[in-house]
Amino acid sequence: MHGEVLVLAEPDAVALEAVRRLASLVDQNPRGRFSVALSGGSTPQRLYRLMATPPWNERINWSGVHFFLADERHLPLDHADSNCRMIRETLFDPLHELGLSGMGHFHPMSTAEAVEACAQSYETVLREFFSGQPPCLDLVILGMGPDGHTASLFPGHEHPHGHWVLPVHASPKPPPERLTLSLDIINRARHVWFLATGADKSQALAELRGAKAPLLPANQVCPRGGQLLWLVDEAAWRAG
Ligand code: 6PG
Repeated sequence: MHGEVLVLAEPDAVALEAVRRLASLVDQNPRGRFSVALSGGSTPQRLYRLMATPPWNERINWSGVHFFLADERHLPLDHADSNCRMIRETLFDPLHELGLSGMGHFHPMSTAEAVEACAQSYETVLREFFSGQPPCLDLVILGMGPDGHTASLFPGHEHPHGHWVLPVHASPKPPPERLTLSLDIINRARHVWFLATGADKSQALAELRGAKAPLLPANQVCPRGGQLLWLVDEAAWRAG
């Protein structure tokens, strides 16, 4: 298992540790812009809710923070299961009510075309933001599924190199079609954080800790020049 592991008592403590670290990263950011890619899922959502809650909503200077998506479900952006909708409602709408929009720097994945075309479109969004260079995100926030998937990178699927954004078909976690940042891009980030909580993650974490950790997508996240951090709760860390 790659990276540093912090085991916290329970899910709220995991989210609190993450938001504290986020505030510190944004404060210390030497560049004018701070780019963070957000994943879907209930565990990352707990962090986004905290980001939009006092004191963190006003503690963090959102003015230079640019929000990208680590993955998206290929659904209308106002669909109940859309990551864009979840992030907008959980994070941006509360910040907007306080005049701390952040929305102005939100770069959602378009889902209006066929999934392959949407992947190409998001690569264009990234190319423009990173001035044509391969993206080097400051932070990628990931969840992990019970099967060891992360973002929308699933076991048994091809994760070809040489791409920045991948279309996903036949996802075992509904909906079947998704979009995801590739391992190439995730592994170029300066910081990658996994947030994994709950007993249903303990088996995958136990496998990842095993001597012959399988080629689970979560185990292929190993930032080349960046730092990998696992923030897990005791229920997930308990031997599976
Ligand atoms: C998605 C997520 C996915 C999620 C994990 C963990 O769009 O579904 O990106 O990778 O982060 O499945 O989800 P939970 O935290 O809800 O278990």
